Amino acid sequence: MSYDYKEIVPFLLNWFDYNARILPWRENPQPYYVWISEIMLQQTRVEAVKGYFYRFTEVIPDIEALARIEDEKLMKLWEGLGYYNRARNLKKAAQFILNDYNGELPSDYKELLKLPGIGVYTAGAIASIAFGKPEAAIDGNVLRIGKRIAGSLDDITKESVKKELSEDFKRIIPKDRPGDFNQALMDLGAGICLPNGKPLCGQCPVMHLCQAYHKDMVMQIPVKPPKKERRIEKRTILLMECENGYLIHKRASKGLLAGLWELPGIEEKLSAAKLRKVLEEEGLRIASIESLGSAKHIFSHLEWHMAGYHVVMQEMPRKYLQNTSYVMADAAELKSAYTLPSAFAAYTKGLW
Ligand code: ADE
Repeated sequence: MSYDYKEIVPFLLNWFDYNARILPWRENPQPYYVWISEIMLQQTRVEAVKGYFYRFTEVIPDIEALARIEDEKLMKLWEGLGYYNRARNLKKAAQFILNDYNGELPSDYKELLKLPGIGVYTAGAIASIAFGKPEAAIDGNVLRIGKRIAGSLDDITKESVKKELSEDFKRIIPKDRPGDFNQALMDLGAGICLPNGKPLCGQCPVMHLCQAYHKDMVMQIPVKPPKKERRIEKRTILLMECENGYLIHKRASKGLLAGLWELPGIEEKLSAAKLRKVLEEEGLRIASIESLGSAKHIFSHLEWHMAGYHVVMQEMPRKYLQNTSYVMADAAELKSAYTLPSAFAAYTKGLW
């Protein structure tokens, strides 16, 4: 059901005037910075994004540089942030902007939506923050706040519910401060109207307007169906060392961690003895095998449960040297030139 939120506007803006977080992309909200930050923030927390944002914008200061950046360099700048397609889409969009938009990020919501990697939330955030357009930006945080204020038990995973809240907010968004309104909601969601555990209602600028607070329902709202369980894949991960470095493998160009480098792996969890047998059957001459322990990595839809081993080889088998998807890299090259996703971090810690 539609809800009239107009009374929250002055309280929210006044609160934001005194409590806005100081964030690197807010100091100088030029469109390029807003765009990069919003893409980084799509699946990553603000605290984790800050360092990446500084490094990225220092190395790639504008849209033209982004359109021309080498893929390997781009991936290296994104290393550890995850969801690497976000970075690939940034570059594609930059090329598109150079060709079709004269090198300027479009300010119109519908034009922004045409760019790779920009969906309704991000288009609303960029249009409002960078260009002062009265567009809503509805993500999980804003849905939680909106539904609590309205005291609504709607299922927030439904597209119809998102669309309705977007229309409700678009109706009341202040024309003179749309970016501040949206960012006030983001900061309220991050610091006060919290998702897990008890929200800090005593500090909320719109507590007196919140139906969930008055009906003692803040812990029941928002409503969403239980998440599907993640699929579990068991893997053995190999840190294979020879005199000239470590063996890495380039993953297929489609699917999980597409086109990124990885430590070679086997799609089951093996004991050291079994691993020795498997490798020897492949013709490897092994100097030593040492366990690096178990580790877990969580993707959005999948978990890797891994056993890691440090395998020192007496020589590099031809099988790997003849295959161009394998490379031997020393620690310095792994640090500066190749992107190894954080799924492997448990087994590369301390090497560089
Ligand atoms: N999350 C997504 N976009 C944000 C922004 N501009 N400020 C704070 N948190 C955010």
